[in-house]
Amino acid sequence: MRIIRITLLSLLLLMIALPLYAGGRLTYYCSTDIPWCELMKKEFEKRTGIRVSMTRASSGETLTKIRAEKSNPKGDVWWGGTGDPHLQAAEEGLSQAYNSPKLSELHDWAKTPHQATGGKTVGIYLGALGFGYNRELLAKKGLPVPKCWNDLLHSAYKDEIMMAYPSTSGTAYTTLASMVQLFGEEGGFNYMKGLHKNISQYTKSGSAGIKASARGEITVGIVFVHGAVKQAVSGFPIEAVSPCEGTGYEIGSVSIIKGARNLENAKKFVDFALTADVQSRSAEVKSYQVPSNKNAVSAPEAPDVSSIKLIDYNHALYGSKVERTRLLKKWDAEVKVLPR
Ligand code: G6P
Repeated sequence: MRIIRITLLSLLLLMIALPLYAGGRLTYYCSTDIPWCELMKKEFEKRTGIRVSMTRASSGETLTKIRAEKSNPKGDVWWGGTGDPHLQAAEEGLSQAYNSPKLSELHDWAKTPHQATGGKTVGIYLGALGFGYNRELLAKKGLPVPKCWNDLLHSAYKDEIMMAYPSTSGTAYTTLASMVQLFGEEGGFNYMKGLHKNISQYTKSGSAGIKASARGEITVGIVFVHGAVKQAVSGFPIEAVSPCEGTGYEIGSVSIIKGARNLENAKKFVDFALTADVQSRSAEVKSYQVPSNKNAVSAPEAPDVSSIKLIDYNHALYGSKVERTRLLKKWDAEVKVLPR
């Protein structure tokens, strides 16, 4: 009797759950800010009836995870995070090609990674690197207003700056690769060594520094400019800076994981993520990157990237396995180990 009751109850629960998730499942790895990751999950579930399970981890961490799962892939799609590790994943055969019907609606910069990898990854947003500072803390401590990358080397900023580890965070790797492109290999590493002296703490995630700065725990956070703007718009005393020497940028990307168990749903997710009205919703969670779909609407608060001095960031080189691995190893061997 009890068994029959339990079976009936399970059947009933299944009947309730089935129409909700009639479209099957999707395992989704997300490497941008959690509120946007969650908005994408909920909206996709609502539109498709596909049940999504989500894991949020930084860009470099997610690449490491996908590589570790290579022989038994658990994820279906990787959305968000800087493009360099997505390019490396493509080169390592960890992602698979897909030609979304939405491709024709994208800006050229978003199509470049797709063309470069035979369709294995595609741009979803663009963000310029910079930093942000807490103007109240800056004034209280009598620190000079930083406008340039080189300003951050001033000894007055000792223990006043936070950034992430280049190996885990795409933001921090973009910083390292940008300094090498701006100042040359030797100059770039000298810059990172000088900056290291002023770093109070390295974090796992790229946006942790500016969040700490917003809370008044640290003065400067090295972050994408839109990340600093997000804190300012949220009411914190944060100023966003586009450094005077010029700066690097990311092409945030999406990739379908090779061996995805839910391949058709992963393709649906890519189509969804490249859709104009979906990209326009990023403003609701104060994510102010430049959307890759030409018809998506940018929020008025979003930084005007056309007014930022962007370097000609070599994504193909700095997203290659050999170069990214080499730079990360060199940073670990020559910068991380130095006393602060
Ligand atoms: C933030 C930014 C994104 C960026 C991401 C990288 O979420 O808003 O534009 O792609 O950081 O995160 P990570 O933790 O890898 O630096």
